[in-house]
Amino acid sequence: MDESQNLHERSTSMSNKDFQRLSQFIYKQCGIKMTTAKKTMLEARLNKRLRMLQMYSFTDYCDYLFSQNGMESELVQMIDVVTTNKTDFFREPDHFEYLVQQVIPQWERRHGSRGHKLSVWSAGCSTGEEPYTLAMILSDYAEENPGFAFNILATDISTRVLEKARQAIYEEDRVDPVPMAMKKKYLLRSKDRSNPLVRVNPALREKIHFRRLNFMDDEFGMREPLDIIFCRNVIIYFDRPTQEQVLNHFYRLMAPGAHIFMGHSETLNGLDVPLVSVHPTVYRKVQ
Ligand SMILES: C[S@@+](CC[C@H](N)C(=O)[O-])C[C@H]1O[C@@H](n2cnc3c(N)ncnc32)[C@H](O)[C@@H]1O
Repeated sequence: MDESQNLHERSTSMSNKDFQRLSQFIYKQCGIKMTTAKKTMLEARLNKRLRMLQMYSFTDYCDYLFSQNGMESELVQMIDVVTTNKTDFFREPDHFEYLVQQVIPQWERRHGSRGHKLSVWSAGCSTGEEPYTLAMILSDYAEENPGFAFNILATDISTRVLEKARQAIYEEDRVDPVPMAMKKKYLLRSKDRSNPLVRVNPALREKIHFRRLNFMDDEFGMREPLDIIFCRNVIIYFDRPTQEQVLNHFYRLMAPGAHIFMGHSETLNGLDVPLVSVHPTVYRKVQ
């Protein structure tokens, strides 16, 4: 077997000590809790990095990752590999109905006539399906309600998913959940039908500002109070103290009356955060 093939196929196992070093580091950097049950998954995902870097042991990888050089160039790559980025257009669709039927009309009664823009944040936006869904829903709403305007900020810790989100190019079957009328209005189809792709049209792309943000940072750099936060299927990877810390940070950034949408398997029950439940997995800041 030649050397390159060997390198390509090689799979290195991770000692418990290296797993401890890595899981503590990942927890500190990203808040993501790697229980021992996740060791095999971490090993498999990081083996790809070892092969790329032509390294033969996780001890070497840890030494490199924790060095100044590694912190500058490998940290971002490591985060790309360890984060779970599953997402979809119109995921958990009942949230979008509740947003349009309840939350926005409420917000308009409070602010609409004063020329404010609804400020929306997709926090943990992955490859962009969630913020583009929001942009379609809100653009349709603006068409029917003259004077209504909005801003969408979309952030993620992973630079790889943000790059894909900015490009806004998806395989055509990914947009199956998008209603036909919206597909016609907001999506462009590739000419080459042997490789069926769609791209979000430029007008909709312009509605979203993408940037990198780590919930573990002390400062999020928000310029204005937020009216709506979608933070779905992200805190599920954090332990309780981290969930509380992150949600209290969000709370301080929310305008009075603002809403936060969590994933359908996430609950704030039992967390010390002053948000009130108004709908399944939707919470409101009272004042
Ligand atoms: C499963 S995806 C959820 C995407 C979308 N919100 C949805 O529900 O379809 C979780 C995202 O959270 C991001 N994430 C994980 N830890 C993070 C952190 N500490 N700060 C910011 N984003 C993080 C991941 O990179 C990933 O893209």
